[in-house]
Amino acid sequence: MDARLLKIEAARAALAYVEDGATIGIGTGSTAEEFVRLLAARVADGFTVVGVPTSERTARLCGELGVPLTTLDAAPRLSVTVDGADEVGPDLALIKGGGGALLREKIVAAASDSMVVIADDTKLVEMLGRFALPIEVNVFGLAATRIAVEKAASRLGLSGPVALRGGQTPFVTDGGHMILDASFGRIPDPRALSEALHAIPGVVEHGLFLDLASVAIIAGENGVSTIKATR
Ligand code: A5P
Repeated sequence: MDARLLKIEAARAALAYVEDGATIGIGTGSTAEEFVRLLAARVADGFTVVGVPTSERTARLCGELGVPLTTLDAAPRLSVTVDGADEVGPDLALIKGGGGALLREKIVAAASDSMVVIADDTKLVEMLGRFALPIEVNVFGLAATRIAVEKAASRLGLSGPVALRGGQTPFVTDGGHMILDASFGRIPDPRALSEALHAIPGVVEHGLFLDLASVAIIAGENGVSTIKATR
């Protein structure tokens, strides 16, 4: 089946987690955009929902399609966030940030009673790390932060290229930061890596989403399946 159709199927199943009248987090990326399109069709039919977008890109699409928006400051607690992922690993540990929105995505997910992940089955992995880990960093001291990231990874037995996204024309996040994409390969202990990265002053946030996702809706050739976190 066409990859886009799988994304649409996962996004459609996520609508069941959105109650009429709810204020929800809305993710970023191609799968989340399919969710926005389906949600907009519901809104056009009279469904009431207000969204907190996780990026300017998502905010623009919601605006174009008529999905009402608010801010996390106006609605600091959300019932659910629906978002995509770059990888879905054991117990719904995720890698996110391929679209560069990981900071707002993590803030919004953490402010939500539940996080519903929507993805096609190519995103499922037995161990995180096939997808390069996005690390959002402050522009100040970029070179020092990159060295610190490499050293922290090395202490955990991880190595590999840590590349500035965009290279000579760096990608800039909605928060005005840059992104290092760390190709460490398999990450046997994501929690240890998360803690080590958080201890580096220049690291704003990283794309390891641990203990945040409650449910993953995974679409494949044989239909849609739901994985629940065991926590
Ligand atoms: C955005 O920063 C990312 O976290 C996306 O949620 C993730 O990359 C999934 O995107 P796709 O649905 O486009 O694969």
